[in-house]
Amino acid sequence: TVPVIAVDGPSGVGKGLVTRWLAQRLPGWHRLDSGALYRILALAAQRRHLDVRAAAAIARLAPALDIRFEGHTEDDERIVVDGQDWTHEVRKESTGALASVIAAVPEVRAALLQRQRDFRRRPGLIADGRDMGTVVFPDAVLKIFMDASAEERARRRLKQLSAKGIQATLAPLCEEIRARDERDRNRPIAPLKPADDAEVIDTTGLAPEAVKARVEALLQR
Ligand code: CDP
Repeated sequence: TVPVIAVDGPSGVGKGLVTRWLAQRLPGWHRLDSGALYRILALAAQRRHLDVRAAAAIARLAPALDIRFEGHTEDDERIVVDGQDWTHEVRKESTGALASVIAAVPEVRAALLQRQRDFRRRPGLIADGRDMGTVVFPDAVLKIFMDASAEERARRRLKQLSAKGIQATLAPLCEEIRARDERDRNRPIAPLKPADDAEVIDTTGLAPEAVKARVEALLQR
């Protein structure tokens, strides 16, 4: 079977950084940004004016969408859906919030399950999200669960946004992160939590290099 490394954790915890390091360390491995699939489905539903409660109709959109991930870094990333460039829309904060609402719907999660597993191809897959280690790839060879306080994640998100020239303030960002956490951790289906066999890394107060060292040590085992 094709090996999978699962990287799970809440919003803004630095999974992107870790998956990019892993991709550098493991040449040729594929990547699955499962959150992007939820974001794309949320946008597709919005464009068709579907109510977030129209679970069955939203779920039916999932298999038909033609989704392409192009580029390898954050800067040259391109997300093409049905031939159109959706990158900018997909990455908006508002899209993340909408995604977390539809992600609580069981039919939606079921509809995306096979699409996520289809990314598992030789030589291996690095998958990030909320339930990679618990639900989608329970047989992953390595499961990393990253965590950090909401304040710390809000501060990091603020820095990221300002680096992109986007103005934001800390308090509402922190509120948004807490609301997202609340939805992700307390939903009845696939709630955000570490798998029993996950390696938990609390990155609160850890510099990126220290996180990298922890991940490197896990790879060496
Ligand atoms: O960028 P951020 O970490 O905030 O979010 P994301 O990973 O792009 O995911 C957006 C939303 O989709 C999350 O808040 C989750 O509610 C949902 N999601 C999920 O339920 N399961 C996944 N495997 C990935 C994302």
